[in-house]
Parts: sequence; C-alpha cells; structure tokens
Amino acid sequence: MFISNSVEETIAAGRARGQTARQGDVFALTGDLGAGKTQFVKGFVAGLGSRAEVTSPTFVLVHEYTDGRLPVYHFDFYRIEDREALLRLGFDDYIFGDGVSLIEWADRYADLIPEDAQWIFFALQSENSRVITNSEPR
Ligand SMILES: Nc1ncnc2c1ncn2[C@@H]1O[C@H](COP(=O)(O)OP(=O)(O)O)[C@@H](O)[C@H]1O
Ligand SMILES: [Mg+2]
Repeated sequence: MFISNSVEETIAAGRARGQTARQGDVFALTGDLGAGKTQFVKGFVAGLGSRAEVTSPTFVLVHEYTDGRLPVYHFDFYRIEDREALLRLGFDDYIFGDGVSLIEWADRYADLIPEDAQWIFFALQSENSRVITNSEPR
C-alpha cells in the first residue's frame, strides 16, 4: 500500500511501474472517479520513455502510445456500454499483443481481464491524498 499526497507522487508511482514494465503486462486499474487512475497512466507512459500526452480514451476504444520502450495500450471501460463491441474491436489482440496494457475501470468487465493481470486499486482519501494498493482481482 502506498499513500500519495499529491498528483506528482501518483505520477511518480506510475513512472516507477512503467520503468520496470515488460512486454505483455496488463494493469487493471480500479477505484472511483478522480482517484488518480489517469494520472498514474500518465506517469507510467512517461516511465516507458514516451513523450505522448495522456488522456483517457473517450470517443475511441483505445489510445496507443508507441514512442516509448514498449507500445502502451490505454483503455477506459467507464463509458463502454457493450462488452461485445470491445471484443469485436479486437480487445484481445491488444492485451495479448506485443505491448503493455492499462485498463481503467477494469472491474466493469472483469471477465475480460486475463488471469495474470496486475490489479491496482486507487482510493480517494482527502483532497490531495490517495491510497494506491496492489489488489486482488475485483
Ligand atoms: N494524490 C493525488 N493523486 C492523484 N490525483 C490527485 C491527487 N491529489 C489530487 N489529485 C487530483 O485528482 C484528480 C485525479 O484525476 P484522474 O487521474 O483523472 O482520476 P481517475 O482517472 O481515477 O478518474 C486530478 O484532478 C488530480 O489533480
Ligand atoms: Mg480516468
């Protein structure tokens, strides 16, 4: 468990995980709106050496950041209403592909997340503090 006391600390936590990430890794991110999932991804992508601007995918299924050490596939299940559409759009090809995947709100369709994914739970604690925990699948 890690307590982040600022957005910069959450970005730094993401950066550290990005620096050690390996091909095929899948990170399932859970926790309420505003808990810091997207900020963590921002750090993670920077940790892999990408200079991309990170924002959550809203009108597309996935954002791909391909200018770092490994390609990163960033999903957000929050607005996805139809799990079949995800599969049709090739979700499995991404997560079993040649990069690293991060999935915000992964618990919305937990059955689509592979067994060996690393689950990370983000919780709001106060205005500027967040609890970040390696968690069991949710
Ligand atoms: N310690 C912290 N870690 C992460 N974000 C924080 C922290 N303190 C305040 N914030 C703010 O909380 C919000 C987190 O947003 P975001 O990462 O988009 O959350 P999520 O993707 O989980 O909905 C940002 O506005 C950020 O500035
Ligand atoms: Mg988000």
